[in-house]
Amino acid sequence: EIERRVEALLKQMTLAEKIGQLVQYNDQGFSAPTPSNGDKALAANPETKTQVDAMALAKQGRLGSMLNVIGAQKTRAFQEAAMHSRLHIPILFGADVIHGYRTIYPVPLGLAASWDTALVRQLSHMAATEATTAGVKWFYSPMVDISRDARWGRSTEGAGEDAYLGAAMARAYVRGYQGSDLSRPDSVAASVKHFAAYGAAEAGREYNTTDMSDIRLRQVYLPPYKAAVEAGAATMMSSFNALNGVPATANPYLMDEILRKEWGFDGFVVSDYTAVMELTHHGIALDAATATKKALEAGVEVDMMSHFYDTQIPKLLAEHKLSMATVDEAVRRVLRVKFALGLFEHPYAQGTEVTHAVQAHRPLVRRAAEESFVLLRNAPVGGKAVLPLGNEVTSVALIGPLADAANEMQGAWGGAAQAPDVVTLRQALERRMQQRGGHVLFAHGTDIDSDSTQGFDAAVQAARQADVVVMALGESSQMSGEAGSRAYLDLPGNQQQLLEKVVATGKPVVLLVFSGRPLVLDWAAGHVPAIMAVWFPGTEAGNALANVLFGDVAPSGKLTMSFPRAVGQEPLYYNQFPTGRPAGDADLSRPPSGGDTRFVSRYLDVPNDALFPFGYGLSYTSFAYAGVHVSRSTLPLAQANRPDARSLVTVTATLTNTGKREATEVAQLYVRNLGASVEQPVRSLKGFQRVTLKPGESRQVRFELGFPELSFYDVHSHQVVEPTHYTVWVGGSSQATQSAEFDVR
Ligand code: IFM
Repeated sequence: EIERRVEALLKQMTLAEKIGQLVQYNDQGFSAPTPSNGDKALAANPETKTQVDAMALAKQGRLGSMLNVIGAQKTRAFQEAAMHSRLHIPILFGADVIHGYRTIYPVPLGLAASWDTALVRQLSHMAATEATTAGVKWFYSPMVDISRDARWGRSTEGAGEDAYLGAAMARAYVRGYQGSDLSRPDSVAASVKHFAAYGAAEAGREYNTTDMSDIRLRQVYLPPYKAAVEAGAATMMSSFNALNGVPATANPYLMDEILRKEWGFDGFVVSDYTAVMELTHHGIALDAATATKKALEAGVEVDMMSHFYDTQIPKLLAEHKLSMATVDEAVRRVLRVKFALGLFEHPYAQGTEVTHAVQAHRPLVRRAAEESFVLLRNAPVGGKAVLPLGNEVTSVALIGPLADAANEMQGAWGGAAQAPDVVTLRQALERRMQQRGGHVLFAHGTDIDSDSTQGFDAAVQAARQADVVVMALGESSQMSGEAGSRAYLDLPGNQQQLLEKVVATGKPVVLLVFSGRPLVLDWAAGHVPAIMAVWFPGTEAGNALANVLFGDVAPSGKLTMSFPRAVGQEPLYYNQFPTGRPAGDADLSRPPSGGDTRFVSRYLDVPNDALFPFGYGLSYTSFAYAGVHVSRSTLPLAQANRPDARSLVTVTATLTNTGKREATEVAQLYVRNLGASVEQPVRSLKGFQRVTLKPGESRQVRFELGFPELSFYDVHSHQVVEPTHYTVWVGGSSQATQSAEFDVR
């Protein structure tokens, strides 16, 4: 039915109307970007120089989609214009809603630390229900770029360094946004971004080039995009970077070969912001026409803000440099998504507009924040772990620039959030201490990025007068996200100095690290008894933090990106390849001990491994793993080497809560195979589950391994299982030690 409607509509469209479906503007108008090489033809074209009037285009039926138009009134105005145009084709409104629209949950890197895909799905649906009340029917999310380099600011927007977890999260976001029926009024289309391998930007520098083998591309970077497509993602966004010399926005290998032919994607691809124009900066197009042709023919259907498709396509057609069939196919793909969304039937905002954080959504985003916190250290002071704070604590010194910073809690891309809706840590802690008959001594200490020590004395004074000190330190929300690359990963400004001064008082200190990425916390790890990574927690930041600090909830988050000891280790990730000269433990490349330790793969000045590795996170209880078992010791190759083969080997283990309180553990399964035709990582995540156990309770955890988990890509880019020897580990981090083995023969 959709195909029939698409074809019928296409037949009626003029060229201008067709091109209109392929362009996207915001409501601010637009000034033409200047190609770096001074394209004369472009400069001579008056249309590229004028301000684009989005409303005028909408009225003429020449505006297919718009970005970041916030508010029902605004979207309605544009939509009414479009619905009154000749063919009444609705505008698709897209927005960067990546961790909530008005009610904000943790930034995606933090949310991934929950390893809770059901929760991600619920939250994504919640965000869709809010945004659709403002007419937004398309999210530029999920960002599924694998990030192994903490210098890259956009690490905050993804699920971290691992392909398996990244794929699971990608599926959850897409299903949450799109629901089981895209045409429901509260469903939105996902735009999976950024296709592809944007997270591998060299040196972690934003927009930088990427270069990698096809094996790495397929094994590490593509799985989350593929999972999103398999989950039915309606659209994709091409990335800014070049991959192996070809900018992703003009890359037929990525968009035609892989996305369309191999994966059967039938939605559309939108460029990133002015990325079609940027092909001239990349130096693969000398003029706007060539950039347009390359992007469109490679498979970018919608031009976000370059103002190239509308100015160049007519000329390219007239000069027979582009076929009408290419244009028609692009329009078809856009219309298909609009029909699938039910936009023709429901073009306007649905229901009562949500303009503030929704009270009824607060418990869910609070839980998300609680699940996102990762307890990195919790050493005893006076014979007792510092956290959770006990009844004996009657005064808390709360120090730091993030303790009362509502706006910062919303992280990068805070949707259409309003800072006054946020509960800060100071507010929540003061309320909590008051209820307990205690009090909070608050000191700002310093700004996030400052060299003024003016507030230091007051901070030290507050610490001296308190039973316990809670320090809220870290990055500003804008230090990560787009264009948020950093070469240093320390606490910014003079926060480290402040921390050292406060620790020197001898009071027990709890360090809460707010950040959009892993930071270097080596000094803190040796001197601060309790450290918790809390990311940017969202609207319910303060309440969630108070709940965990006081032990109403035990932390259960596990890192999804390695925390380095030094920036020089980046890119740093647990599933590295082996070397011919392993340092110490060949599996984990732990620092060598004794013997000739020079001519091995190591740094002279820092151990190889992470300070806090992937999968790591403490609880208020303790967990033990035992009896890792595989259901068979040999597996026939013919049985394993079939793409549809599932549940070939069952791995089981017993997980016990050996501590004193109920808590949730994320049990993780890692796999290595030795003897393959190409090197395999020292271990790779192939399963995980969240398990809640009472004190003393045991449960069997169970994982199934099939072709997807056992296979890898060979030098011909074929996904295969070979006759190799497998080791599996089950445990609470990527350093799990309990293992079992089997062979494929
Ligand atoms: O969606 C974003 C993208 O991730 C980065 N550039 C801008 C786009 C639209 O705001």
